[in-house]
Amino acid sequence: MTLSPNIAPERLPELLCAMPKAELHIHIEGSLEPEMIFALAARNGVALPYASVEALRSAYAFTDLQSFLDIYYAGASVLLHEQDFYDMARAYLERAAADNVVRAEIFFDPQTHTARGVPMATVVQGLHRACVDARRERGISAELILCFLRHLSEEDALATLEEALAYRALFIGVGLDSSELGHPPEKFARVFARARALGLHLVAHAGEEGPPAYIWSALDVLGVERIDHGVQAQHDAALMRRLAGERIALTVCPLSNQKLCVFPDLAQHNLRQLLEAGLCATVNSDDPAYFGGYVNENFLRVFAATGMDARHAWQLARNSIDASFAGETDKQAWRTQLDAVFARFAAPGA
Ligand code: ADE
Ligand code: ZN
Repeated sequence: MTLSPNIAPERLPELLCAMPKAELHIHIEGSLEPEMIFALAARNGVALPYASVEALRSAYAFTDLQSFLDIYYAGASVLLHEQDFYDMARAYLERAAADNVVRAEIFFDPQTHTARGVPMATVVQGLHRACVDARRERGISAELILCFLRHLSEEDALATLEEALAYRALFIGVGLDSSELGHPPEKFARVFARARALGLHLVAHAGEEGPPAYIWSALDVLGVERIDHGVQAQHDAALMRRLAGERIALTVCPLSNQKLCVFPDLAQHNLRQLLEAGLCATVNSDDPAYFGGYVNENFLRVFAATGMDARHAWQLARNSIDASFAGETDKQAWRTQLDAVFARFAAPGA
């Protein structure tokens, strides 16, 4: 940590909200708020198995990852037209900009949509148009990462990647998500090798519910640059040394981990330990419409629960910028902005 900010503890929440940050782990389908699910269902004539927004929201009581995914895929069934994907991404980017997110690397799950007959073009072009508009209108840098659903076959993932190549310029990387247990990273070795040969960035969910062995194989078999979640790394000392030594970023999602019962409560979340062990941990929202908050809410709640201070805040924001796939010129400008915000909060009488 290069800055040692002398910032009054009562100003920490304001600082957490004001600091520029990159969000590196957000599933765009997980930003569909119940109100928008109902509005799109009405617009598209899709029947929902819930009577009201309140009834849907009250179904958001999850016991594990799978219990969430079942509802999350049902919610995504209202997305049919390019404008639907645009509206969803635009709403997320407006909220992200309000949270002082300067860079968003947005996951999307094309197989969830193409399996229902929605063309790949509809998905990718709608999302990309929202990213372009957000840059122009709000100055936020946003790009897309295509995720493969790990409960499906590698053949399906390979076919999805080939289909998406018609839009190669519209996404920057590939990821791996959905049901982790029983679907280890090595199941997707060939499709990740193909993506690497195409010059795409590589990330994968690993060590959310799954064991440290899945983090090792995401690194060594898939060759990923970042690990999504990765909180189970703490059970493997050699893995902790590897992650710290190579500065491999973990995109941690505190409210998600709480809601999916990965930790019994936020006070027992290991973000602080990961950070203090020298890992490049970051804070992200995962599926904010389902887990109770966007990225600033994740910062506020996990800081309140674990007693982290302004030094941790600076390190987390700096890690998010360093770990992003943005160009070095943008990253340098955001680092300067970050230090300017901390200097403003540290100034006497500020
Ligand atoms: N898809 C959306 N959210 C996810 C999560 N937390 N883990 C795995 N797959 C997901
Ligand atoms: Zn995720």
